[in-house]
Amino acid sequence: MEFYLNNKVLNIGIFFFLILVSCKNEEKVTEEPIKKAVVYDMYQPSEMAGFMNAMYAYNQQLKAQIVAGETPTSLPIDLLKLHSAEMTDGKSRTQNWQSFVNVFIASQEAVVDTLSNTELKERYNNAINNCLNCHKTECTGPIPKIKKLLIQ
Ligand code: HEC
Repeated sequence: MEFYLNNKVLNIGIFFFLILVSCKNEEKVTEEPIKKAVVYDMYQPSEMAGFMNAMYAYNQQLKAQIVAGETPTSLPIDLLKLHSAEMTDGKSRTQNWQSFVNVFIASQEAVVDTLSNTELKERYNNAINNCLNCHKTECTGPIPKIKKLLIQ
């Protein structure tokens, strides 16, 4: 009888131990797919997309300065990155891209050229129109957003 009781206690002990272990296992099983789903859903912008957004922010700042009557003089972003930055999978530098990129770079540089005889607002809008010219064939999604950069 004593042995039977002890055995029962032992069995209960083993029973709870197994529950604990199996609960832990269950936890692991439910955790893993959630983590994987998060990794899959994360949007990883390409180096080029990141650079485009930096150019967008820079031109927003230029627009604010020009509208406020200031003369912007600094160009803190390296436009030559357009030639080297990695693009989103499946995108590449097409012939269209090649034909627009240098015209764009020259026009963006002209905005801060304080010696230019062309009116500041015209030089700025010219740069933004060159963003749009390339976007018409290479990446149409952001066009409405880029149009908002134009100074009316
Ligand atoms: C020579 C062609 C070209 C020029 C010039 C150009 N873009 Fe782009 N832009 C692209 C391409 C191609 C992509 C897609 C890049 C990628 O997904 O890797 C892009 C992507 C973008 C995006 C989306 C980024 C994202 O989060 O996915 C924005 C916003 C953008 N450009 C704004 C601009 C602005 C503002 C200018 C001018 C200051 C400009 N672009 C000039 C070709 C150009």
